[in-house]
Order: sequence, then structure tokens, then C-alpha cells
Amino acid sequence: MATPSALVNVMIEAARKAGKGLIRDFGELNELQVSKKGLADFVSAADIKAEQVVFEALEKARPGYSFLGEERGLIEGTDKSHRWIVDPLDGTTNFLHALPHFAVSIALEREGTLVAGLVYNPVSQDLYWAERGKGAYLNNEKRLRVAGRSRMEDAVLATGIPFLGHGQHAKFLKELHQMSQRVAGVRRFGAAALDLAFVAAGRFDGYWERDLKAWDIAAGMLLVTEAGGKVSEIDNSDANPLDTGSILAANMELHPVIEARLKAAQG
Ligand code: IPD
Ligand code: CA
Ligand code: CA
Repeated sequence: MATPSALVNVMIEAARKAGKGLIRDFGELNELQVSKKGLADFVSAADIKAEQVVFEALEKARPGYSFLGEERGLIEGTDKSHRWIVDPLDGTTNFLHALPHFAVSIALEREGTLVAGLVYNPVSQDLYWAERGKGAYLNNEKRLRVAGRSRMEDAVLATGIPFLGHGQHAKFLKELHQMSQRVAGVRRFGAAALDLAFVAAGRFDGYWERDLKAWDIAAGMLLVTEAGGKVSEIDNSDANPLDTGSILAANMELHPVIEARLKAAQG
């Protein structure tokens, strides 16, 4: 049984509050008989509302911290050494299509280092959280550990498939070709924050994706490292995925193997 710190409790409260609103809107979405455009507007309103709820809850508990959110961009606070990185609704396309796989993602950076991260799925109410140096947990009871599988043939990997107007389609196909023939399965679940949480929980053995934003991955990155896994930038091991949006996360054994395959895909 792990007891979250006061800081993590602040994050949990913010995520649960936003999650409640998202669940209400998700339920309503099923009833709504609106045009496709109307639906998209409804979802983007749900997204903006959720970010507002998270922002207000965090700002109330820790006034002055800087805030980087998908909807609001960067709001510089008086305290520049702390920065929240927030995706109020990761998995928007799932949400829009009534697929119950989306999350609220909240991370905190101190002096440029991730110190706390939380990913909350309001449908399952699973709450994944981690604090630097203290481990990663699911809800209050379960310590998270990345999977122990070390052979590609046993591995299930997650990824993100480029979509209309987004991503590098040809490059992705080459990478998929390298992976799919060597592993037990490749999945595309549609929420980067949950993909990383699932790596931390040992469900996925690895995950790679390009063209992401810091708010998609900040919390999940800490989950994976605190669960004993490795996170890196795909092309440049000195770069930070938060800056480039390209990420590879896996257990220690599989990380170099997947990395080599991604390199081979470019050759
Ligand atoms: C998206 C999800 C998805 C990933 C996309 C992201 P959003 O975030 O994380 O899994 O493939 O690239 O943009 O738009 O649903 O917050
Ligand atoms: Ca996202
Ligand atoms: Ca989002």
C-alpha cells in the first residue's frame, strides 16, 4: 500500500474532478444526435472545460506554478522553477467515437526535471501515478513494474499510427515492417499517455511513437522510468522526447533491441 504525497494528492484531485466532467460529457455524447461537425465541437468544448478544471485545481493548491496545457499553451507563473504539463483529454479521437479509452495526464517538472506524473482513465477509474525516486503505482495498492519479457517473439508493442494531416506515413510503415514480423503483436490504442502507463504496468513490452507533444508523454515517461523501464528519444539518445516528440519506452532488455530495429528501418 503506497500513500501518495500531498503533491500527488493535489494532482489526483485535479484529475478526478476533470474526469468527472469528461464522463458526464462522454455519456451525453452517446445520446447526442448532432452532425459530425457538431460532435467535434462538443468534444473540443469538453476538452477545454477539462483543462480549465485541472488548471483551477492546480493553481489553487500550488499558486504561481507555470502551466503548459494542450489547450492554453504555456502560462508563465511567478514560480518558473515549477511547471505543470497537462493533457486534459488524451485520446480525443477515441472519446469522439465513444471508445472508452482516454485519459487525463498531469506531470510536474521542477527545474526542468520530471518529479511527478499521473495518468487517469476516468472510465475504468484506474489511476497511474509516480514520484521521482519513489516508484510508480496503480491506484493506492499496486506497485508498477515493467514486464520481464526479454524476447521479441514474446513481446506486444504499442505504437501510434499517423493519421490524416499528421505524422510521417512512409517512415511509420518502414518501422512497422521491422517490428510486426518479429513480435507477438503490435497495438494502436489511441492514447499515448495510457500507452506509456501500460508499459509501466508491464502490459505492453514496449512503445514507440513520433510527432507527439510534451503533454502526451510527460507523465507517462516518469511512470515508465519509475517502474524500472527505459525511455529515450528515438533518433538521438542525448535528446529529450519532451522536446522532439519522438519516444521509445520499453523494459531494459527490449529497449536496445527495439531501438536497433527502428534504426534499421531508416537504412
Ligand atoms: C493523441 C493521442 C494519440 C497519438 C496522437 C496524439 P490527443 O493525443 O495521444 O494516441 O497518436 O498523436 O495527438 O489529440 O488525443 O490529445
Ligand atoms: Ca494527447
Ligand atoms: Ca488532448
